[in-house]
Amino acid sequence: MPATIIIGGQWGDEGKGKITDALAERAHMVVRPNGSTNAGHTVVTDQGVFKFHLVPSGVLHPGCDCVIGAGVAVDPVQLLNEIDALRERGVDLSRLFLSDRANVILPYHPALDRAEEERRATHSIGTTLRGNGPAYSDKVGRKGIRVADLLDEAALRDRLELVVPEKRLLLAGFEDDATLDVAALAEQYIALGERLAPLVVQAEILVQDALAAGKRVIVESAQATMLDVDYGTYPYVTSSMPTAAGACQGAGIGPTQVDTVIAVYKAYTTRVGGGPFPTELHDETGQMLRDRGNEYGTTTGRPRRTGWFDAVAGSYAARLNGVTEVAVTKLDVLDTLPEIRICVGYRLDGKAIEAPPAVASVYGRVEPVYEVLPGWQADTSCATSVDDLPPNARRYLERIEELLGVPVTMIGVGPDRQQILHRPTGAAV
Ligand code: IMP
Repeated sequence: MPATIIIGGQWGDEGKGKITDALAERAHMVVRPNGSTNAGHTVVTDQGVFKFHLVPSGVLHPGCDCVIGAGVAVDPVQLLNEIDALRERGVDLSRLFLSDRANVILPYHPALDRAEEERRATHSIGTTLRGNGPAYSDKVGRKGIRVADLLDEAALRDRLELVVPEKRLLLAGFEDDATLDVAALAEQYIALGERLAPLVVQAEILVQDALAAGKRVIVESAQATMLDVDYGTYPYVTSSMPTAAGACQGAGIGPTQVDTVIAVYKAYTTRVGGGPFPTELHDETGQMLRDRGNEYGTTTGRPRRTGWFDAVAGSYAARLNGVTEVAVTKLDVLDTLPEIRICVGYRLDGKAIEAPPAVASVYGRVEPVYEVLPGWQADTSCATSVDDLPPNARRYLERIEELLGVPVTMIGVGPDRQQILHRPTGAAV
């Protein structure tokens, strides 16, 4: 049975956790392929609100295996805290697995993240300061420490002896030496490795065996296409590859083993941190979206920047990821608006351009071309089927569908698990 990939179509926080949770009901396995504790996936259930950073959102379904794949950068302290907090709330974690190849975030990674942001000053990326960028830099620089190293004291000491002196140089003047003592780090991380050991597996084999046995596998990507290190608003991006291709790599599957790529989009746009955002609103409507949408970061609590739906960036993401289905979340946030704008084109220096430009400062100069649609000014949060939606809400979704060129099959109308409207491919909105 081929796998399903869930990715973000914008700049993150689209509600991927909610969509994964909804689909995980029928899945045997959910794999998290990328990102680190920088990610925050929220799921609202009868038992309350769950915020996941590293643990896949499928964990709330008892029959579902949850796998943290090789492409994830794992902070063991954060992972164990997350596991303890979930256990306290009665969540069964006996089916949680961790790849032995996943890279580890050590205390010097957040320290380097802070130092790097401070050095960049006015050009700071606005990272989550979780050490994500420095950990992925070490990984591709072949200086990373991986989960398997935490299970082998001699190997760990050897790796630390090699990398810590360099970190000491990079952090001179920024941090005290507490994060840079090889013996202390080795002792602490071997102890953490012992606690993680029961979860550690060759995750790619587990995933491949599940696919070979005809099990339903969902790959739940973190972050989003416009934050991708190649195709996003570089350098205002994350350091991993949150595309469908990146999800394959991080989960240990090939493109021929996937038949469904679901891109999740908010009915409007948000982003956190710096970088271009052509449809950003700095007015009352922007504040209304922030308030009604509760647009504050799951990981950092930062207020998110808000704006209209950007169908140019959206269709770019749909094409790059070979998206087969779209989920539109938070439609209800737009319920009070008399009219709604969609960005249907970009203009740069007076000329129409088709796709996001490569240089961030150029992207920052792009002017959005808007189409104005009538609002519906009615409550959509109690809709239980697409037929319950007001005609103008359906028109708005149809227009998004046309612009993205991909069918909208799921619509979120509120934070709760039940507030998702399903629509079979091909049915009218
Ligand atoms: P980093 O991933 O912490 O290095 O941050 C790089 C950029 O990605 C910053 O603009 C962050 O705000 C953004 N980012 C990272 N993780 C998320 C996320 O889960 N949601 C939204 N933005 C994110």
